[in-house]
Amino acid sequence: MTVSQHDMKPILILGGTGKTGRRIAEQLAQRNLPVRIGSRGATPSFDWDDRSSWPGAVEGAGAVYICYYPDLAAPGAAEAVGAFAEFAVGMGVKRLVLLSGRGEPEAQRAEERVQQSGADWTILRCSWFMQNFSESFLLDAVLSGEVALPVGAVGEPFVDTDDIADAAVAALSDDRHIGQLYELTGPRMLTFADAVAEISAAAGRDIRFVEISVADFKAGLTDQQLPQELIDLLMMLFTEVLDGRNQHVVDGVSRALGRAPRDFTDYANNAAAAGIWAEAQ
Ligand SMILES: NC(=O)c1ccc[n+]([C@@H]2O[C@H](COP(=O)([O-])OP(=O)(O)OC[C@H]3O[C@@H](n4cnc5c(N)ncnc54)[C@H](OP(=O)(O)O)[C@@H]3O)[C@@H](O)[C@H]2O)c1
Repeated sequence: MTVSQHDMKPILILGGTGKTGRRIAEQLAQRNLPVRIGSRGATPSFDWDDRSSWPGAVEGAGAVYICYYPDLAAPGAAEAVGAFAEFAVGMGVKRLVLLSGRGEPEAQRAEERVQQSGADWTILRCSWFMQNFSESFLLDAVLSGEVALPVGAVGEPFVDTDDIADAAVAALSDDRHIGQLYELTGPRMLTFADAVAEISAAAGRDIRFVEISVADFKAGLTDQQLPQELIDLLMMLFTEVLDGRNQHVVDGVSRALGRAPRDFTDYANNAAAAGIWAEAQ
């Protein structure tokens, strides 16, 4: 591994308590690299929506993992990420690693802003996370025994967030990844029905996938009284991004890490063994 100058300065992990950031922060700490978490709950706190919080979080950092919240596909994400990247470079940050999404125009605009920031950059352009079923917005549906979504036969090469974390740690600590755009996918495509069937088998529970209409999906989100921004985001992700545009496996994990990506079956077996989908007693 290359140990470069920035390794001596703290590495700021935005979203450092989330699905990817938590894993990255743990790995860096295990390597005795100095880590600083960037989130609203951290000290000093970092809030994407409050730019007065940015200097305290960034000051003295040598590298930043940029994980935007709520989603890089959301309107305004590119502007916020671009402004942050320029701010960080102005504060002396040398390296930026951006967590991005596949087939999302706003995310691709954010990538360009990071590439133009003047920092040494690496882009991790990821497919849907496997952990959406165990650590995120699909967990409650899995636990209820029915996952109802407006998607049919479209295939998605779900990626394991442990692979994203491995690639991010490599990019934050090894100069060979500077200037690389890695498209990170899992090793095979699954439909959402396939994914739920795998989870059902691993968990030993009857968990069904049901394809519903876009109108019923929207009505369900509205009934849950979710914020309108979140409803709009989920509608866009399910109706636009899952239109088949990402229906191919690519080799970003092996290019970045020199090994095959983790498979969905292993993810499902590990999550089931950890009791994440266990029935409530
Ligand atoms: N899920 C997918 O399938 C997928 C696929 C491709 C790309 N992505 C991208 O992944 C990113 C999300 O990454 P993730 O799943 O690792 O994160 P996550 O699990 O959603 O975690 C959210 C993190 O962000 C922090 N946070 C929440 N609101 C914040 C705010 N206003 N300002 C600053 N920090 C805030 C949270 O901590 P606090 O609560 O303490 O602030 C937490 O650390 C998005 O940009 C999305 O576009 C997701």
